[in-house]
Amino acid sequence: VISERIDSSAKRQKSDAKAPLTLPVTPSRYDAPFPFYRRPAQLGHFSLDAQRCYHGDARRLRYYAPPPVEGPSPGFDLRDGYRDRYVKQDETVREGLEHLLRWITQNRKQLQTEDKGRPLNADFVTWRGHLTKVLTTPYENQDGWLLAVSLFRGTLYISEVETEAARRQREQRTDLLKELMYMGYKFEQYMCSDTPDGTPDPTGVVNTNEAFCIVIRTRLGTHSLLFSGEVDCTDPRSPWPDPPSCYVELKTSKVMHSPAQRKSFYRHKMIKWWAQSFLPGVSRIVAGYRGPDGSIVELETFETMKIFQLIREDPGCWKPAVCMNFCAAFLGFVKKVVTEDNPKLVHLFAWEPGHPVSFTVHRDSEHTFLPDWYVEALSS
Ligand code: A3P
Ligand code: MG
Ligand code: MG
Repeated sequence: VISERIDSSAKRQKSDAKAPLTLPVTPSRYDAPFPFYRRPAQLGHFSLDAQRCYHGDARRLRYYAPPPVEGPSPGFDLRDGYRDRYVKQDETVREGLEHLLRWITQNRKQLQTEDKGRPLNADFVTWRGHLTKVLTTPYENQDGWLLAVSLFRGTLYISEVETEAARRQREQRTDLLKELMYMGYKFEQYMCSDTPDGTPDPTGVVNTNEAFCIVIRTRLGTHSLLFSGEVDCTDPRSPWPDPPSCYVELKTSKVMHSPAQRKSFYRHKMIKWWAQSFLPGVSRIVAGYRGPDGSIVELETFETMKIFQLIREDPGCWKPAVCMNFCAAFLGFVKKVVTEDNPKLVHLFAWEPGHPVSFTVHRDSEHTFLPDWYVEALSS
């Protein structure tokens, strides 16, 4: 019995040395120079229509069409249409990576490598939104996350799993919060047109099934990444006309009245805005500030690459380098832990505020997320 015990503890130590069991998230650990991040390149795009159906084209791309002068009170009523012109995406449908995987199968040729055992030239495939959550983790103190990972033919796929807390929050959303969510989409409708020289049509229906998504290839440190993200619109008059820098991210936020409010906005909200747009190389974020009555009182444009200048004076603020270094460390951790190439094997990486990242292993379970049609398509 004793020898068995020694044996198993020795085994455990050996596997510990191979792959650590947890990953710390403390910001100070990642406070190092900004890591290498290759300029994001757009490989392609796809659209999701009013019924949430996939199309391998740009039919849902919209064009940035701000009101004539940027300044006070464009007079947008963000509540308009909430009761009678709103079609909401069914959030109980778990799409996983499905749309991105469809794009991959339809564009395999441009992703191929010499290596026959590795059909995709990427270490990681995921949604931009999942990476945004990883980037902001060192500074997040409210929402945890669960990320499922499978290694299949040399590429690691990362797909989010809804946490119990997130599900509860989604099911218990107050009507006020539901209306606030609508208002974010309504703002997009006021700011976008369907043609490059058109004007917005605020009389139309807001349908959150519709999306235009870009597919990006880049590299963070030693990790090559392929991810997709939804973009709000392109600016036909952009000073940087090439994709992905031509895109504009639209955001709404409560109007601010004091320097303290602006400081808090930079600390807690801007980090998410920055991470979301920096990852795919979207160059501008246009904020619409809403008053208590739900109207937009002011617009402000942020250049994604200049956001670090706004926050560096505040020593208590987040640091872009910490976010990126943590993301690189997380991807390295995933690579060390997930080494068995098997689409039915899932490692579930879990994080809760105040804790390090940990993981559990699931074989042939309900957590399997790579669809059979995809596994078959990439096996031939
Ligand atoms: P705002 O962020 O302007 O409020 P996105 O900004 O990513 O294009 O998303 C468009 C809108 O979808 C958001 O507008 C918000 O209303 C809603 N939304 C997106 N992610 C959300 C989330 N995690 N929780 C609540 N609402 C969200
Ligand atoms: Mg959007
Ligand atoms: Mg937006």
